[in-house]
Amino acid sequence: MTNFTKQEIIDILKDNSRNDWLFSHADRVRKDNTGDEIHLRGLIEFSNTCSRTCKYCGLRAENSRIDRYRMTVEEITECAQKAVNAGYKTIVLQSGEDYSYTTNTLCKIIETIKKLDTAVTLSIGERSFEDYKAFKDAGADRFLIRIETTDKNLYNQMHPNMSFENRLRCIKDLKKLGYETGTGCLVGLAGQTIESLADDILFFKDINADMIGIGPFIPHPNTPLAKNPAGNLTLALKVMALTRIMLPDINIPATTAMETLNPKGRIMALQSGANVIMPNVTTADFSTKYEIYPNKSGTGEHIEQRKQIEDLIKSIGRTVSKTQGFRKDNKSSK
Ligand code: 5AD
Repeated sequence: MTNFTKQEIIDILKDNSRNDWLFSHADRVRKDNTGDEIHLRGLIEFSNTCSRTCKYCGLRAENSRIDRYRMTVEEITECAQKAVNAGYKTIVLQSGEDYSYTTNTLCKIIETIKKLDTAVTLSIGERSFEDYKAFKDAGADRFLIRIETTDKNLYNQMHPNMSFENRLRCIKDLKKLGYETGTGCLVGLAGQTIESLADDILFFKDINADMIGIGPFIPHPNTPLAKNPAGNLTLALKVMALTRIMLPDINIPATTAMETLNPKGRIMALQSGANVIMPNVTTADFSTKYEIYPNKSGTGEHIEQRKQIEDLIKSIGRTVSKTQGFRKDNKSSK
């Protein structure tokens, strides 16, 4: 394992002459530590309703030009059943911060899906310690909540009426409760510095995150950042590659935002440190409305498309994992 200093990370991020070395080194670290298996996580976007107003996100409460939906408990569990039937060993339940789903309702959904013998990951935003505990007791295995940026000033600019401290509290509570905890950041927010990206990577290491998702910022027309340029894919891949080198055995997805910026983004990520893909298994009618940013890759991607994804994985000499894909040491028996 390599522990780069902040200055070394900054130097690598700023120097593009050694990118090939960086990507192949990260690919080697991935192979040596997590092997050639790729874990597929079936993503269900069950509600695009959100009470937050994050400046970059198309789901923000102030966007009135979006057709809001909420899947019912039955729709969510049926969708999960179909994904499990298609071979998915993890179901990711993602939504805007939608408190109309009460703790009890969410626990019921988790319990029902856990009976299908699958891992359950939640990605539903900030809740109290008690709520996180209830979800864990109901059977949830993992939780994704990105820090988005560790630059506190930038965080506060991007997230009106939210608090950096509470975000950190959430991540720490999840770790404490024994979740496999995923976090990550956006790359390319206006005002974001290379120094702060280096801090992001050191933060991932410091909290010993189990999963890290890194995605380039993509402007959405109905947000205050509509006119801002998109983040740089190469820089996002470099942050990801450095994260792999610093945290050799964690799970790292090839993110949808990477693929949205470049049709080869998914493969590039898988060959630069990533070992996870999160195909969208949401019923097509809903998934087209889950517009975090425009032209989101995988929107309307169907459960039936699993074959294409499997072919892609095989085409680069990798295999589809048959396990639930926990971080190596956490639950190695599964
Ligand atoms: N571009 C890229 N990623 C975005 N996200 C939200 N809005 C955007 C955007 N405009 C990411 C956030 C969030 C994840 C679910 O989607 O990082 O954590």
